Amino acid sequence: MPARQISPQAPSSPATAAHVPVLLQETMDLLAPRPGGRYLDGTLGLGGHSREIMRRTGGEALLCGLDRDPQALERAAETLAPYGNACHLFRAEYATFAARLDDLGWDSIDGALLDIGVSSLQLDVAERGFSLRADGPLDMRMDMGGFSHPERPAWMGSAYDLVNGAPEAELAGIIKDYGEDPLAHQIAGAIVREREAGPIRTTGQLAGIVCRAYPPKWRRTSRNHPATRTFQALRMAVNDELGQLERFLDGICSRLAAGGRLCIITFHSLEDRIVKQKFRLWSTGCICPPGLPVCKCGHKAEVRLLTKKPVVPGKIEIDHNPRAGSSKLRAVEKLPSA
Ligand SMILES: C[S@@+](CC[C@H](N)C(=O)[O-])C[C@H]1O[C@@H](n2cnc3c(N)ncnc32)[C@H](O)[C@@H]1O
Repeated sequence: MPARQISPQAPSSPATAAHVPVLLQETMDLLAPRPGGRYLDGTLGLGGHSREIMRRTGGEALLCGLDRDPQALERAAETLAPYGNACHLFRAEYATFAARLDDLGWDSIDGALLDIGVSSLQLDVAERGFSLRADGPLDMRMDMGGFSHPERPAWMGSAYDLVNGAPEAELAGIIKDYGEDPLAHQIAGAIVREREAGPIRTTGQLAGIVCRAYPPKWRRTSRNHPATRTFQALRMAVNDELGQLERFLDGICSRLAAGGRLCIITFHSLEDRIVKQKFRLWSTGCICPPGLPVCKCGHKAEVRLLTKKPVVPGKIEIDHNPRAGSSKLRAVEKLPSA
């Protein structure tokens, strides 16, 4: 059943925001869920992909579903209610998936999925502070502050803390590395000057500051809102998005059963690069430097690549759901002997 689509500008409450699952058919074809199998969905969102896993298996699969966002979890629970006890849902970061599988007593799984974007629930509700178009408090925490991160600097809580507390060089680095914005230093400078007069409290204020840091000509010719990259960068930093992905990849391969499949949908080139490199390493045998007469590394391929190139959405999907635009799907299958 296709999910209802709503306009990004429409005022929306958590109870009404809808999310159109990205690359749904392509992901299911690669994940190939089967009745009796155990599946992990690390990014439940509103439960669109998980519902399709359950539908395709006639409700005969078992699902472990995670989301760090309590509002998403509530919505996913409603979506998956028809499948009753087959779905075990946890409020958790997907980097901690192994502990959740242990809780269920699942040594191995037959498939795992990550869809690492922002959900419509998060983007469309101004109070969550993700949107640069709808004015709201500067927040951007997917977990709404539910998890503490002792390893992160004190200023890095919500986007408010980051924008008002991070040293200028730190801000510039985040906007440059995660947002790939060529004006990162000018934007960070403008933020720091502005916050000297008083804290920057709202997404609207921040969007205005970034916009004014852009030369007028760039502002006029830019395809997206000039603050798009800055908002993306801050969101990635606030939610430690790359760190979560790296920690998940460190552990997931060893929990896949032989023939088990892993599908990952990314929306950012840095995330896609991390997935591509990890999949390439897992699918490679010997990694000794060329020219050695005998293999010394002992590295063995653990998976088979199911996607040599990433699967991307077609025009029809993008027209219907513009948020799918930058998505890339990669998948691997665990080898029997690994
Ligand atoms: C794009 S949505 C997923 C949509 C979902 N596939 C569907 O079809 O409805 C991404 C979800 O992942 C969650 N998320 C992002 N990073 C996470 C993490 N590290 N741990 C747990 N959940 C995460 C977000 O809160 C959001 O609800």
